[in-house]
Amino acid sequence: MILSNEARVRFLGLIVLLFSIETCFAERICVLGTGYVGLVTGVGLSVLGHHVCCVDVVAEKIAQLRAGRVPIYEPGLAELMAEPVRSGLLRFETDIQTVVCSSDVIFVAVGTPMSEDGAADLSALQKAIDDIAPMIKSYKVICIKSTVPVGTCQSIIQRLVKVGVARELFDVVSNPEFLREGSAVDDFMKPDRIVIGGNPESAQRIKALYQPLFDNGTACLLTNLESSELIKYSSNAMLAMRITFINEIARLCSKTGANVHDVAKGMGLDKRIGPAFLKSGPGFGGSCFQKDTKALEYIMKSHRVGAKLTQAIFKANAAHKQKILKDLTALLGDDVKNKKVTLLGLTFKANTDDIRDSFAIDAIKYFSELGILISAYDPQGMENMRKLFPHIAYCTSAMQAIRETDLIVMVTEWNEFKKLDLNIIAHQCRTKIIADLRSLFDGCELKCRGFRYYNLGN
Ligand code: UGA
Repeated sequence: MILSNEARVRFLGLIVLLFSIETCFAERICVLGTGYVGLVTGVGLSVLGHHVCCVDVVAEKIAQLRAGRVPIYEPGLAELMAEPVRSGLLRFETDIQTVVCSSDVIFVAVGTPMSEDGAADLSALQKAIDDIAPMIKSYKVICIKSTVPVGTCQSIIQRLVKVGVARELFDVVSNPEFLREGSAVDDFMKPDRIVIGGNPESAQRIKALYQPLFDNGTACLLTNLESSELIKYSSNAMLAMRITFINEIARLCSKTGANVHDVAKGMGLDKRIGPAFLKSGPGFGGSCFQKDTKALEYIMKSHRVGAKLTQAIFKANAAHKQKILKDLTALLGDDVKNKKVTLLGLTFKANTDDIRDSFAIDAIKYFSELGILISAYDPQGMENMRKLFPHIAYCTSAMQAIRETDLIVMVTEWNEFKKLDLNIIAHQCRTKIIADLRSLFDGCELKCRGFRYYNLGN
């Protein structure tokens, strides 16, 4: 179709008008903190079509992101980021002042690590709020993504009012994240549910940001601030409790001849129970379950609510790890000094470079104290582990790590470990013992090839 000049001008005018109407109503979003949560949230919202600016005080991180490099290992994130960056929807800045001033919605996604007494350390969050306060000159929705104790959003409101921010200029909304490291991109794009706590108007504004996900069937739950805050802690504690429970059942299976995988399957077929998070292993790790169960226990105690069950999760998980380490040491025989143990996997789970609270950390400490030599291989976690424990031997492949070893411990469920050739392994190690903490191998096959085999509940 050939347009006349006049028609062309009218057509272009219409496009510009539509664009300016859209820009007029589009929320200008900023995300404070470019850790796992902030970065995935920022990238995800820009992919949903919003203008997003991710802000971090660490200039090096921002420089990397501007160069198209993702400072964390999260499968799919770099690829997902490319298009919104190219189209200008996603930007990275260090200057919080300018960005916050020109934003309508401020997502706060800073870390809330565990303090010594078990409570959540809110200092980074409080600093972020204090930084934002002087820049609130027009109405803003402050959306808390960080995992925070129940009551925190209310205290943020009070804190802002106390420093002189007019109450009508802001609302605080709680919008907890449920992203798993290693599958965070998928979890953002296809979540089971989105929880939003706050007053109806501001909650609706946050809900509207996720609209394309609701069109694809994601559930949305609108609550008050307190319920939303507590949903996050309760969900993590429930997941941690399921893992801890199945690990106890695994140990019972080992004593009785039952098979924990069959038991978990049989339980999971009951719709009231479901199959997820019933995989036995070396105990849960990572940055969240330990700190969040501890923080929940702290919150319960500070409200004088009995925390017996919550308290037990953390204790039982720690005891489970210690029990495994004792069993593994026993496999080495009486004189363990200078025997060699190989750790295959150092991260707390597969598809991440995160080693926080991983079983490998407990294992390195425990074996090192006994004078046991350690070799290790992990596709992504070695750089991080080397910073903590420079004294162990880091290898370039699994096969190199198991050379002349007395015990192979399968710590992390990396796919490449499932494909290891058992015949070659049998020839490489000094003593044929495998502790398969992630149930990667078929026990019967290992036994047929002459391996001694350690696996909980199988
Ligand atoms: C967890 C939650 O699953 C997320 O929903 C939440 O958003 C996140 O914490 C957080 O609070 O930020 P994440 O710690 O990344 O996510 O990892 P998970 O997949 O939950 O695994 C945690 C630990 O449990 C790992 O060590 C894993 O190996 C272990 N696990 C998990 C099992 O031993 N068995 C299972 O069946 C599942």
